[in-house]
Amino acid sequence: MDVDLRPVRRLRESAAARSALGPIMEAVCTSPAELSRLRVVCDWIQYKQNFRDAVVARPIADSDVEIAFDLRRCAGLGAADLSESVKQALAGAEAGPGVDLEPWRSGRDSSLWRFNALYWQALSHWEQATGREYEQSLPGGESDARNTEAARELILELFRIWDDLDARRALPEELYILELGVGNGNQARTWLDEFVQLDRRHGREYYHRLRYLMGDYSPHVLERARQAVAHHGTRVSALVVEATRPSVTLGFLSGKAFLVYISNVYDNLPTDELATIGGRTYLVQTQAYLTDDDAAAIAAQCGLDGQDLRPLIDRLLRIGPELLCESAPHHFAGPGDAVTFWRSIWTALRLRERYIPLEGLDSYQVSAGPAGQGLTGEILRPLLEAEGDVRMHVSNGAVASFTGTLPLLHPFGRVQCHDLFLTSSSQYRTGFYGPGKYDGSVVNWVNGPLLQLVASRRGFGVQFAPFRQRPGSNIVTLTAQARDLPWCCCRRPWWGPTPCRNGWSGSRPSTTSAGSASSTSPRSTRSRSRPRSRTRSWPASTSCPTVSCAATTTSTTSWPGSPASTSRSGPSPTTSTTTRPRSCGHCRRTRRLARNPGWGWAWPRTSGSPGR
Ligand SMILES: C[S@@+](CC[C@H](N)C(=O)[O-])C[C@H]1O[C@@H](n2cnc3c(N)ncnc32)[C@H](O)[C@@H]1O
Repeated sequence: MDVDLRPVRRLRESAAARSALGPIMEAVCTSPAELSRLRVVCDWIQYKQNFRDAVVARPIADSDVEIAFDLRRCAGLGAADLSESVKQALAGAEAGPGVDLEPWRSGRDSSLWRFNALYWQALSHWEQATGREYEQSLPGGESDARNTEAARELILELFRIWDDLDARRALPEELYILELGVGNGNQARTWLDEFVQLDRRHGREYYHRLRYLMGDYSPHVLERARQAVAHHGTRVSALVVEATRPSVTLGFLSGKAFLVYISNVYDNLPTDELATIGGRTYLVQTQAYLTDDDAAAIAAQCGLDGQDLRPLIDRLLRIGPELLCESAPHHFAGPGDAVTFWRSIWTALRLRERYIPLEGLDSYQVSAGPAGQGLTGEILRPLLEAEGDVRMHVSNGAVASFTGTLPLLHPFGRVQCHDLFLTSSSQYRTGFYGPGKYDGSVVNWVNGPLLQLVASRRGFGVQFAPFRQRPGSNIVTLTAQARDLPWCCCRRPWWGPTPCRNGWSGSRPSTTSAGSASSTSPRSTRSRSRPRSRTRSWPASTSCPTVSCAATTTSTTSWPGSPASTSRSGPSPTTSTTTRPRSCGHCRRTRRLARNPGWGWAWPRTSGSPGR
């Protein structure tokens, strides 16, 4: 029998958690279970509202069983109750009593995501019934995206980048910012209001060039957000966007967004879980259900026959509470009654789970994509293999959203995301990270190391930092930026004080590096002559010395004021002098795109650029 005690911190800190262990083992060992085929798992489920009972059993393939305990709740159970719960859980492991709301399926396809979507589509009805705004259920009681200090920091960083590009006449006329998952618009309002003030002080009139796009899949939420920022007029547009497929709506933004701003959204997107048990990989399948007692109580409360329950829940999820009461007036006198029904179902909603063996990680699809560009489970191999027996989120929705967003970025753009991220896969061995219930929506922590891997394959660096402005918060800030692009083929950031010397401006010869000023190859002649006409207008101080593509690198240590000097994960600037007989198409494309992102240049997927 394997015993997996995950909440190590709680076991240290909580006498109640420790004292629950004895009765749990007593109940397990005196149960009729075949102990040699049993796994015992103890978690501490910090979400008071969640989808599990205190004791649940999960079949592992067709042979073994996992029995899981929530130490928080088990600590309050007497020995007899615990023993009874174990017996019931083991008896109903595969097809327990209750009203099933769906067949077994993977977590990301569970109907709980339909409940989640309904919450955002009909948010006002829910908030009216509870008297609480959704923000109150977020960590800290309000969205960290409302934090003015954090917004200010980000805006000033943008100003630095824009000033730098402007000095090189490479700043596009329209400055795009995209926010995904806008909620009530407080985040957008905070950001835009700060922007106006800082821009006034900065004196460059960027506000007039700003295009702030708000994207959300709920038209209802978007309308609320639009009202919150109405005073910013035409600077703001609201778009219905499915966050997991941003390119469907936002393709026009490709290569143009300087900032994609996301908070508390990734933890609200569908996810599967995979598990390694005894060296074998499993998909966690789920099935939403109501216990018989809960189903009977809800049916009685609404004057329903038991068999009407499932079709009515399905109708609620399809048409929402307002239309539900119109379509079933004999059960619901008004929207308020339909919302009461909805809330009761949500409170009672449970998930059964079972482990289904995966044939191979490559047979599992993490996210779909255009032919050949989807991600298979292979990407998870290093994370799973590093941890032994572990169960982790695949964060499929977050991965799809993130990978769909990266191509929207301007070469100097970034994704900034405040959310509940795990920053190391080993955390999965010592804690519970969802799913939990926030009012009417779902919360799952996000597999940060997976996003890091995915981004790395696409030439982006991802950094995680605690949300500085609220110490002690669980919120982590993810920042993703291109790792390769700022580094031209001659190992310089191309925006640096002496950018690429591969024939771009031809205005003056290099005086810094030996061998750089002369080349007679036909190729170098070509690369000199073409850019000359294009870059006539570049300021003399930033023009590239005329050299061939047999580029050299010389001493460069930092570039004050350049975006690269902040936090990139590219190579350290080199101090040696080397000759690199390579074409400089990379730099030329990069610079061209920076000046005119609409040219449809594609991001390199895995270039062997010096930035890696
Ligand atoms: C928890 S709220 C966060 C709102 C805001 N960003 C904040 O921090 O207060 C989640 C937001 O994401 C939106 N959302 C959830 N899933 C989405 C999806 N698949 N596509 C687009 N928006 C989604 C919801 O409608 C909601 O506005």
